[in-house]
Amino acid sequence: MAFPSAWLDELLHKNDIVSVVSEYVELKPKGRKLWACCPLHGEKTPSFSVSPDKQLFYCFGCHAGGTVIQFVMDMERLTFYEAVQNLANRVGMELPNEINDREMQRQRAYKKRMIEANTEAARYYSRCFLDPETGRDAQKYAAKRGLNAEIVTRFGIGYAPDTWDSLLKLLKGKGYSEKELVDAGLLVHNAERGSVYDAFRGRLIFPILGVNGQVLGFGARVMGDEKPKYINTGDTPVYNKRNNLYGLYLHRNEKLDDLIMVEGYMDVIGLYKAGVKNAVASLGTALTQQQARLLKRYVEKVYIAYDGDAAGQNAMVRGLDILKAEGLEVRVITFPDDLDPDEYVQIYGKEGFDRLKDNALSLNAFKLETMAKGYDMNDENGRERYAKTACAFVAGLQPIEQERYYKLIAKKTGYALDALKAQGMRSGGIYTEPNQTPVRGGFRRRIDAGEDPRDVIERTLVLACLTDKNALAYASRENAGQLLKNAVFAAMMNAMQEQGSAFSAVKYIGELDGKDAEIASAVLKEEDAVQNPVETVADCIRRMNREDEADRISTLQKRLNRTDLTAEERNAVLKEITERIRANK
Ligand code: UTP
Ligand code: MN
Repeated sequence: MAFPSAWLDELLHKNDIVSVVSEYVELKPKGRKLWACCPLHGEKTPSFSVSPDKQLFYCFGCHAGGTVIQFVMDMERLTFYEAVQNLANRVGMELPNEINDREMQRQRAYKKRMIEANTEAARYYSRCFLDPETGRDAQKYAAKRGLNAEIVTRFGIGYAPDTWDSLLKLLKGKGYSEKELVDAGLLVHNAERGSVYDAFRGRLIFPILGVNGQVLGFGARVMGDEKPKYINTGDTPVYNKRNNLYGLYLHRNEKLDDLIMVEGYMDVIGLYKAGVKNAVASLGTALTQQQARLLKRYVEKVYIAYDGDAAGQNAMVRGLDILKAEGLEVRVITFPDDLDPDEYVQIYGKEGFDRLKDNALSLNAFKLETMAKGYDMNDENGRERYAKTACAFVAGLQPIEQERYYKLIAKKTGYALDALKAQGMRSGGIYTEPNQTPVRGGFRRRIDAGEDPRDVIERTLVLACLTDKNALAYASRENAGQLLKNAVFAAMMNAMQEQGSAFSAVKYIGELDGKDAEIASAVLKEEDAVQNPVETVADCIRRMNREDEADRISTLQKRLNRTDLTAEERNAVLKEITERIRANK
């Protein structure tokens, strides 16, 4: 981070997080924290917390969290530099001279060059596609997929020839350095051989454009069945898939009623061709909060239409809550027979798609449908258990909404409306997710469905060490840092051990990159889980060790299934497994 450390210290010291946040919402004390309804997403019960002693905030609803700088970034939609500037103004501090512009200008110039290189590459791929010789196979493949000339032009579809150095030669000839091209993701650097080569070879190219129309990166699809199907530009100075939506740039000057979120390049393109022009893709990754915010700049209402397969449906459940947390109105489109949107419109056309859209489910109806998949609905027992869980869920909704969902449950289970309502009343509207992991010892916290248990445990351990110096000492002695799988937590633990009582979480997190800062500040989420810090650490270590041991055993078991082992090797593996299992009893 380019700001001098002492200067940043002073800035954080003068901008107490409580006073900054209080300029936006009224905070009320409860326990060790102060609470409010989250100013970053719409809500009616307070899940936004500020910890005055740690100088961090965390929202249990939308999972935003971090230092006062992060808060201003989120609240005012500013970059890190702008937020620091804003806070400096607030307390009348001058920006340090060194920062002034030089570094920022250098970075801006570098990014500009990267976008120019990408633009050159996109033009080159397009020429290759259109060339009757070079592009023959690509044109054939595109035609087979129904990509006509208009679509090819609209989406800038290209072809990367199957050579190791044609882009490399072209762009070096235009004055770009190998480093720049590797940084842009256009070339790959092979460290072992010390050589560089074209990143995309023998693939159909989908340029990824930013909302202002700049070429930020590429997706590249094989034209057969080889794996991987797509390779994509990774994180570069100009592109981060978490911050972008494929296809959004087509709508920068339009007033839209709604957008349709799909998974892939071909879904956006297939829908467009069928006349459904407002689809954008999260590109196969789980939807992020940054993407949700981007959507919110364009529309109030989002339809989410992921693939009908299990992976798509699961990704959808997670995406929904993220969209809702940004205050978007969400509807769910589901496709029959494991079809994806592209396949569906090819069969049923725009009319078919519009029908599905008209019948899209609300968020709660979709949750009730998904919930039903966990039960055998053909069996009386299954229906009964489903009805109980579903009624508890519905009882927690707004009274006006409840009516329509009780009706839905009645339709699915055949129970009378009155019985269902009575059941809901009895549950008191407290819906608890199934499969809770029982906790004992120092670690007292339920792990909710959808949470990664390892992540919760690692966060808790770090927080316990942050809270209590005896816990830190104990963790150091037990080498707990070695067990942490999350690199952000491992680094933080390391810093705590090195700096001891001089360690300041707020300063440490303030100097991390956005994404890492978000991960690190989620430790605050566990504040209520840590009651006896030393015991908590001990318990977390025990749990991580147990899990790692189980992983090791399962790796060994996989080895055992390999056919290329000699009898001797097999026996050795077998012996090790047996010993490990016995030691664990
Ligand atoms: P899909 O497998 O659904 O691809 O993955 P698709 O877009 O429908 O493409 P076709 O119809 O098979 O040609 C959805 C998205 O997941 C990402 C891509 O962004 C893809 O569009 N993905 C998928 C990858 O990045 N790599 C892969 O190997 C597969
Ligand atoms: Mn697909």
